[in-house]
Amino acid sequence: MSQSESAALIAGYPLKAHNTFGFDVRAQFACRVEHEAQLMAAVRDPRAAALPRLVLGGGSNVVLTGDFPGLVLLVALRGRQLVREDDESWYVEAAAGEPWHEFVAWTLSQGLPGLENLALIPGTVGAAPIQNIGAYGLEMCERFASLRAVELATGAVVELDAEACQFGYRDSFFKRAGRDRYVITSVTFRLPKAWTPRAGYADLARELAARGEAHAQQPDAQAIFDAVVAVRRAKLPDPAVLGNAGSFFKNPVVEAVQFEALKAKEPELVSYVQQDGRVKLAAGWLIDRCGWKGRSIGAAAVHERQALVLVNRGGASGGDVLALAGAIQQDVLTRFGVELEAEPVCL
Ligand code: EPU
Repeated sequence: MSQSESAALIAGYPLKAHNTFGFDVRAQFACRVEHEAQLMAAVRDPRAAALPRLVLGGGSNVVLTGDFPGLVLLVALRGRQLVREDDESWYVEAAAGEPWHEFVAWTLSQGLPGLENLALIPGTVGAAPIQNIGAYGLEMCERFASLRAVELATGAVVELDAEACQFGYRDSFFKRAGRDRYVITSVTFRLPKAWTPRAGYADLARELAARGEAHAQQPDAQAIFDAVVAVRRAKLPDPAVLGNAGSFFKNPVVEAVQFEALKAKEPELVSYVQQDGRVKLAAGWLIDRCGWKGRSIGAAAVHERQALVLVNRGGASGGDVLALAGAIQQDVLTRFGVELEAEPVCL
């Protein structure tokens, strides 16, 4: 049997294990994609050809509010390798279905530093470019070389560079015009040979300092990796234990004038000035200030240690989480005049 013939659609497929909130919903059809050829075979299957489609990697950035009335493509493509190098950089390619954290750990084990600040982010390699994952002073786009994707309308395989991906803060072409048009099959990262530690982020610097003088002064990539893992474990709930999708809201960016007015009223406001003069506000702080930390609506709750993270305490639906999110957005708008935008895709 050829690879393209082996694509099998499963009807009524349970998605509980495929979304990190753990919502108990089903897909009308699902297909596990282990080879590129299976993608188009699934999409062209007469039972699913006219239906909506959803691509799921780790399901770590999605809120499923009900059964999905269409075809879910479960991207399970695997493989990772050093593909080339030049004087400045190593180029490492990983298939879209590789678990992100395992991939980061593997690059370090190969002596290829550069992704350590992004340790322990849930999800897959193929999901990383979609929202341009970032943490502890590094965004994925800074290490991105290119990606391969299949255009679902034509079956064409395309290679897209950073410019085509239009990366922004937790944003890319794939969250906008490119949504549902392409399935990312692999990503190639450029890791600079002239590695320097990125250890300035406050929480990270504090953790490195707590781990001893040598690490704080001149941490190596492994020390940064270990410190990031420790900080994340202390603050962010493990989706395997408590369903969540990481930060539920983006940190809002406001004009300098609005920031000055807010700061005058709220001197402790946590903020970061952007290159364009606008100011990014810590959404977690805004939500915390409104008294939401640890509060719940039904089984949907605000995490006790990080107000930016919404969790499923068990048995919550996507609708419950969206109701909680809506109440938080309303309070933050009323108190600060700031609109919070959800980070996950809500379906
Ligand atoms: N804060 C509070 N109360 C809270 C949460 C935060 O006062 O409940 C304050 C903190 O004390 C800190 C500031 O708000 O002064 C910012 O908090 P933190 O450093 O924890 O980072 P964040 O802005 O909440 C962002 C990313 C995270 C990323 C961390 C570390 C977004 C939306 N979130 O969180 O990304 O891991 O920085 O770099 O940009 C994700 O996107 O899923 C994610 C987890």
